[in-house]
Amino acid sequence: MHGAAVAATMTAVEFISDKMAHHHQTNPNCGDATTLQSHHVAAAPCPWGDTTNNGNAAAVPMDKRLEGKVCIVTGGAQGIGEAIARMFVRHGARVVIADIDDAAGEALAASLGCVFEHCDVSVEADVERTVQRAVARHGRLDVYCNNAGVLGRQTRAAKRIASMDAAEFERVLRVNALGAALGMKHAARAMVARGGGGGGGSILSVASVAGVMGGMGPHAYTASKHALVGLTKNVACELGEHGIRVNCISPFGVATPMLVNAWRQQEEEEKSSAPLEEEKKSSSESVEKMEEVVRGLATLKGVTLRASDIAEAALFLASDESRYVSGHNLVVDGGVTTSTNLIGL
Ligand SMILES: NC(=O)c1ccc[n+]([C@@H]2O[C@H](COP(=O)([O-])OP(=O)(O)OC[C@H]3O[C@@H](n4cnc5c(N)ncnc54)[C@H](O)[C@@H]3O)[C@@H](O)[C@H]2O)c1
Repeated sequence: MHGAAVAATMTAVEFISDKMAHHHQTNPNCGDATTLQSHHVAAAPCPWGDTTNNGNAAAVPMDKRLEGKVCIVTGGAQGIGEAIARMFVRHGARVVIADIDDAAGEALAASLGCVFEHCDVSVEADVERTVQRAVARHGRLDVYCNNAGVLGRQTRAAKRIASMDAAEFERVLRVNALGAALGMKHAARAMVARGGGGGGGSILSVASVAGVMGGMGPHAYTASKHALVGLTKNVACELGEHGIRVNCISPFGVATPMLVNAWRQQEEEEKSSAPLEEEKKSSSESVEKMEEVVRGLATLKGVTLRASDIAEAALFLASDESRYVSGHNLVVDGGVTTSTNLIGL
């Protein structure tokens, strides 16, 4: 390194050490992850910004990051939505599970001590009623999570553009794209109406790696998830003035009923001559097999992507820790969409 640059670097290092020494004298707990919760507002202000509570008046315990927040999770009866609902409840949120599967949704809501609403996200009256009832019951809406989605048929014919079924294409777009747009519409109305020029809020959607690049899903699904990523950015642009953040998450393959059923459908079609009984596997076997398939395709080895990983991302985007993140697509794919290994790395 050039002499002048070394001198300048040393000066910067000394300056930082000086600042840190002063900082830790006045804020003995600052920067220590184990004591972030206990670092209270009475301490002298942190010169690097408030590292303890995102600038809120009261420190937020790390195990209750959604305390008091009212959250709606669509498609929350199973799979990724269930994991998100469980995570939100664990962090102190008052959760409304909105789904078309009444039996599973009601059972889960009862076990978590939260509320279930029957809601088909592609039907505007259902979405509007779900939001209105959440606000009537809890007095506000803080987080709306557009998770409900469908993959569409997985047969070989359904994957060919030349044999595309227009009705099936519309069905997938209605749920995944229109359903999310309707959720954003009614969530925005409730959040903007919170008074005082809008009281903020977080709208998040579960998109997909199929919304990032091609070749990750069937045509209609890919089109719908690209639409959702674009919609997220546009709505974030509009709602920023109300302090409302709009983001999405794009997972790689998670062995939920959606993915396991799609894989089984495909396998059954490929081995259609074999007796059906032989094709049937227990649910846990199917999940393990699916996870193995995904691990084989993944860039990042040694980790199995689970619904709880997506729930962690949702928790971040729902909580005040992401208070300056908006219009973002948080890709949870172990790097699979960032590269194609063409040179044998
Ligand atoms: N599993 C994956 O590998 C994966 C990967 C990327 C993205 N995603 C996305 O994650 C989200 C959740 O997927 P999952 O894998 O948990 O699927 P899943 O099929 O296991 O669960 C989906 C839930 O949504 C509900 N639902 C379906 N249509 C609905 C509608 N019209 N209105 C309300 N609820 C409806 C279902 O009843 C079910 O409870 C979807 O948007 C999906 O596209 C999944």
